[in-house]
Order: sequence, then C-alpha cells, then structure tokens
Amino acid sequence: MTQAILTPDANSQDGTGAHSDGQSRKVFVKTYGCQMNVYDSERMGDALTRDGYQSVDTVEAADLVLINTCHIREKAAEKVYSQLGRLAKLKKQRNAEGGDLMVAVAGCVAQAEGREIIRRAPVVDVVIGPQTYHRLPEALAKARQGESVVETEFPTEDKFDGLPKTPEKAIRARGVAAFLTVQEGCDKFCTFCVVPYTRGAEVSRSVDRILGEAERLASAGVREVTLLGQNVNAWHGKGADGREWGLGELVRRLATIGGIDRIRYTTSHPRDMDDALIEAHRDLPELMPYLHLPVQAGSDRILKAMNRRHTAAEYIRLVERIRAARPDIALSGDFIVGFPGETDEDFEDTMRLVREVNYASAFTFKYSIRPGTPGADMEGQLEEAVKTERLARLQDLINEQTRAFGRECVGKVVDLLLEKPGRNTDQLIGRSPWLQPVIVDAKLGKIGDIVRVRITQPGTSGLFAEPAE
Ligand code: 5AD
Ligand code: SF4
Repeated sequence: MTQAILTPDANSQDGTGAHSDGQSRKVFVKTYGCQMNVYDSERMGDALTRDGYQSVDTVEAADLVLINTCHIREKAAEKVYSQLGRLAKLKKQRNAEGGDLMVAVAGCVAQAEGREIIRRAPVVDVVIGPQTYHRLPEALAKARQGESVVETEFPTEDKFDGLPKTPEKAIRARGVAAFLTVQEGCDKFCTFCVVPYTRGAEVSRSVDRILGEAERLASAGVREVTLLGQNVNAWHGKGADGREWGLGELVRRLATIGGIDRIRYTTSHPRDMDDALIEAHRDLPELMPYLHLPVQAGSDRILKAMNRRHTAAEYIRLVERIRAARPDIALSGDFIVGFPGETDEDFEDTMRLVREVNYASAFTFKYSIRPGTPGADMEGQLEEAVKTERLARLQDLINEQTRAFGRECVGKVVDLLLEKPGRNTDQLIGRSPWLQPVIVDAKLGKIGDIVRVRITQPGTSGLFAEPAE
C-alpha cells in the first residue's frame, strides 16, 4: 500500500502559509506501509504545517521530500535507496538551477538503517526513526544549517506530546473515520518479524492521552475510530478507577464518548485476546464485529519455530470463544507460507485451519528473509517455486471464502457510515460493520451520516445497497 497523505487543502486551511523567516516551504510526503505510518505521516504533516510548510502533491513542486518508510516487505531498504538515487538526481538538477531540495527519511527503514542511509545516500538531510517524530522540526532546522541529522533513539517521552495537536480543521478535512495510535512496538519477537527491532519494545499511551485525543476527534465530527498498535491488544494502562486496564476496558470507556459511534482496533495477537476484550465484543454495539487476528500458520511445528507461543488448536478455540460472544463477527488474518522448514504436511495444516476458521478476508505472504531476525539464519529455507505454488493455493481458498462472505451479506440490513463520494457523483461510499466498502445512492444521506441499508449485490470493488425501509 502506498499513498501520499497530505492534501494541499488539508494544509492550507491552517492559514500558516509562510515561515517565520518569510519563506514559504513546500513538502511532499510519501507514505509506505501500515496504517500506523499513515497516522504518523499525518502527525508529522501537522507539525510541518505549523512550521510554515504547505503540502504539495508532487516531488517536483516540493522543497522538502519526506519519505515515511516501511520495513515489513522484502528488500525494503533497497527500494528506499533506489528512490533516494532518483531524488539525488533531482537535487543535482535543482542545485544547477540555483535551488535546493531537502530530503528526510522517516519510519522503520530509517530506524533499521540509521546513519548508513546518509553514508549510502548523501542526498538525505534527516534520518528520523518512528519514536522521535517530535524532534522533526528541530532536526530540519539543524539540517538547514548544513548539518545532517540522525535521530533513531528510543526516547522515553511520548513522541506525540512534543508535536502540536492536530488542528480541528485538519481533522475535519480527513473525514469521519480516523486512526488513533494507542500502543506501539512489540515484545513478542516472532522469528520472521522486524517490528520488535524497528519499533522497539511495547509501549502503551496513557488513558488520559487516548481519551483526550478521542474527544478531540469526536468534537471535530469523527464518528469512527480505529485504535492502532503493532500489538494493539497488548495495550494496558492505569484506568480512571485506579485499576490496570486492558484494551477491553479502554474500548468500554471510549464507547461512552458522545459522537464516537464505531470503534475498531488493529492488529491483535491471539495471546492477548483476554476475557475483557471478548466481553467488550459481546456487550458493546459500538465495537464493530470485525477482527484482524493473524495466526500466520496452521502447523504447530511451524508456529513454534515462528515463536508464536500458541498452537493451532488454541487459536481455533479462541475463535470459537470470540464467535460465541459475537456470532456475526468477521475474521481476517495474516498468513506466511514457506517459512523455513515448512513441509507439504505443515502447509496442509494451514489449509485445514483456514477451512475450519472460514475468514472474511486475509493477507497472504511468501516468507522472505529479514536480515537480523532469527528466521534469516534458520535451516530449511525453501525454494521460491514451492512458496509460489503454496501461496497460490492458499490465496485461491481465501478468495473463495471472501466471495462467499460477500454473497452471504446480500439481503442483510446493516448500518453504514457514509465516508466519501463514490466514483459517480450520484453515489456515496460507506463502510459496513464488517469493513466492506458499500456503494449507495447519494440521495440517501450525507458524509458522516449513519444510514440503515439492505445489501443488494456484491460488486468488484464493494457491495451495493439500497435504503432498508
Ligand atoms: N516474510 C513474510 N511475511 C512477513 N510478515 C512479517 N514479516 C514477514 C516476513 N519476514 C507478514 C506477517 C505479518 C504481516 C504484517 O506481514 O504475516 O502479520
Ligand atoms: Fe511482528 Fe506481530 Fe510477531 Fe510482534 S506479534 S513480532 S509485530 S508479527
């Protein structure tokens, strides 16, 4: 997933077009990777707006390019370096014309590579890891004096505290569904994964900060909040009642905020699905019946080698408990095929688990080495052809389940949150409780309304629906 996050109007609305030194600066932000990177880019964009930047849609129009990188995909660092190579050419051209271009690299590749980035790509002025975004304006100021800056520590302060709060206008411009980071980092150390190294140890934001941000979102018209964390259900904190809360208690409290009608969270680890969270699914209509609960594999041998710390049977039992609490819940997952040592039999265990759970959707990946993780040094690395064949089979099965889920939705009456205009001007797109995009007639309501509809037919890019009455 790639997307440019800042829209010109989102920034210009803030009215801070010029910097204190009188210059108007223009930033192009490119975001790769997960929803947390999207969220982080928005926060950094807000800080830059306060610092006098306007956002632009192209690299050519920018005098600062900020790349928020993701390390989860294969050859992530190499792809960043080739992008930086292209920026180096552009900078050279600018310099020849008497202008300049600044480049900042943020995100997980910045964290993993650190100063190496500047060594290999001297075009880069600032390297900033995910935990130090509050230092971005300061780092850019130093860089403007000609110093290259690398900020990749894991400081103890909340990285969002030092950043200015998002202006209400910017929240409004982003729409009625928003992300809210509640937790970062991971202590699980799955043997294939770089996250514990790039995002660091598990850190939960405090209840006060989360509630404060949720209330500000609600007062700016946000109706749906997705709580974000690499291991979101490991979130914990001291509650208003003085007791230690888990995510279930936090969701229960968030559901009492007027205006917040829908709550989601992602991504969860099976080991952290506790009773309170399952009960929240049972009790709270605000908590949407959709759960992304990666299992990665269906073979106990492979789960052990992955250090997932649960068996396939434990996962299936957990799914049964969640479904008993909330029978209409839609499940999604992540799967890795071709982990080192995976036999045909192990892979068949994954297929069996998928058949048994029956997913509404899932992401599937071929295992690929992340340098520095234990999986990289494991014996029994599989050939590409084997991974390709297994991936295709797994994808066929999951696609079939996703289509069946879409077909089962036809005829159901659901509440849609209308989020954005459709491709045709007489259409609006809303989200079903199960996260599916649903296309309706624009006359049904306006963006931000929650409308009751009946699903009429599955389409290629979403479902279609008509008024329920
Ligand atoms: N190879 C393949 N897939 C991976 N993922 C994480 N690391 C790797 C890797 N080394 C997948 C996992 C995770 C998702 C975000 O990316 O399935 O849940
Ligand atoms: Fe990575 Fe998720 Fe495992 Fe943490 S729980 S190591 S983020 S796959």
